[in-house]
Amino acid sequence: MSLKIFNALEHQKTDSGFTLAQAINSGIKNSDSSIGVYAGDAQSYKTFSLLFDPIICEYHEFSKNKKHKPDISRLILPSLDPEEKYIRSTRIRVARNLKGFSFPCHISLSQRRKLEKKIVSALDRLKDDLRGKYYSFESIDEKELKRLKKENLWFQKGDRFQDAAGINSDFPKCRGIFHSFDKRFMVWVNEEDHLRIISLERTSDISSVYNRLSRALPTLNQNLDFSRDKTYGYLTSCPTNIGTSMRAGVHIRLEKLERNKDLLHDLVRTYNLQIRGTGGEKTKIRHAVFDISNRQRLGISESRIIQNLHNGLLAIIKAEQNL
Ligand code: ARG
Repeated sequence: MSLKIFNALEHQKTDSGFTLAQAINSGIKNSDSSIGVYAGDAQSYKTFSLLFDPIICEYHEFSKNKKHKPDISRLILPSLDPEEKYIRSTRIRVARNLKGFSFPCHISLSQRRKLEKKIVSALDRLKDDLRGKYYSFESIDEKELKRLKKENLWFQKGDRFQDAAGINSDFPKCRGIFHSFDKRFMVWVNEEDHLRIISLERTSDISSVYNRLSRALPTLNQNLDFSRDKTYGYLTSCPTNIGTSMRAGVHIRLEKLERNKDLLHDLVRTYNLQIRGTGGEKTKIRHAVFDISNRQRLGISESRIIQNLHNGLLAIIKAEQNL
């Protein structure tokens, strides 16, 4: 941040009292941050636009005169890995925050409580295969907790980046997860965003995972008013997540490409994808299992993200087969 921007923003505050010092605290405490800033509420994107706009434009390759057009209509795509040789699982998530509440790095305990109640009552209204149960981290028993951890239906207290941002305040109070009885649909409550809405399967069937999510979102939207901006789409704690707020990806085993990392990185760059570690963000690759997902979330529609990912994964699988 230039001194000019710092001077302009130093004494600014949003209506809920979120300051520049809070927005940049995570990046200051963690010099290895790649982004380093968080929004404390929807208004942060306007109040601190001098700081946020350049980060957003660079990360998403976006310019403010470009329109962000959503499209979450259903898709039918050919199977990626019909013999299930490479892809272990497919997961698509979106993030949502509710209008009228501060974001998780700047929310009081009583507001978090109110929010949790509101979200849980909306989740109770889900129908058919989306029906499920909410597990509060405050009241969950040991046995259930062990099961959720084992089945990977669980989120941990935030890492040092989220911690410095303020996201862990009052943890584990008002946090929990909802999962459908078939365990293919899940919602994290009060993690980095108010909601992380997740569809997942231990298959390579991207259309099925995506269509489940596109079915769930309008139902949830009937009872929850999501924070959204004309230019920036859905607003989230981290500016990397705005727009569609969608991260769609697979866990894929690439034994040969692991030994040909340059080729893999070239393909990932060509299709505008990103690689994360086997255990999630900022973790290592284990047993050649890569987490490959879309990088851009703003200025691109939901269905385009899925189509690009599908094209990229086809190319990656082909490269693995040819080696
Ligand atoms: N703040 C962290 C950094 O700058 C994480 C950025 C993206 N990840 C996220 N979970 N929001 O490196």
